[in-house]
Amino acid sequence: MRLMLRDAILRLREAGYGILALAIRVKFPELATLQNITVFGLDDLSIFAGGHGYLTDVRFHVVPNHFLMHSDLMSLPQGNVLPSLVPGQRLVVTQLRAGPFSSGVRINHVPIKVPNVIYNAKIVVHGIYLPFPHLYLDDLASADHISIGESGTCGTSSAVSPDECLVTPASAPAMPAIVDLDDGMY
Ligand SMILES: *[C@@H]1O[C@H](CO)[C@@H](O)[C@H](O)[C@H]1NC(C)=O
Repeated sequence: MRLMLRDAILRLREAGYGILALAIRVKFPELATLQNITVFGLDDLSIFAGGHGYLTDVRFHVVPNHFLMHSDLMSLPQGNVLPSLVPGQRLVVTQLRAGPFSSGVRINHVPIKVPNVIYNAKIVVHGIYLPFPHLYLDDLASADHISIGESGTCGTSSAVSPDECLVTPASAPAMPAIVDLDDGMY
């Protein structure tokens, strides 16, 4: 694992994920104790463009002891729960297979931007657009099983098709505000 972490750090830097590479270096002692990991990461540009919240929440984006290539993620059923390194905080597959606009797997409602950015024998990293929002079971129930009224409406909006209900979950992540980097690991 130590060798594979070093390999990942080098290759992430070359791939435009230098900040994630640095974060992995910081978390090296903890990560080295795991069998393998799946990491969801923001590239450097996305972090500077408003995704800085990722920096204080990297551990929420690491799935310990699961090696999930993109094809493995695609085959997980919706609602599948994955552990993260934050105790009690889990990730949920929220891919919406039903409906005309479904495409690709989502984790906590965030789509994958770059599948399999880098991978080796123990580590696979997927690029995401936004830091994952934390979901709680209540949120999940309202987001993924939006009740559809008898008249075919959903939520508070009227005259929308069930498919449109499904592709606009109530708790879709908002773009985090831009704040300076003078906190967290800096
Ligand atoms: C990843 O680690 C887990 C836990 O030890 C193990 O069960 C699994 O087989 C490993 N996966 C791969 C692809 O090495």
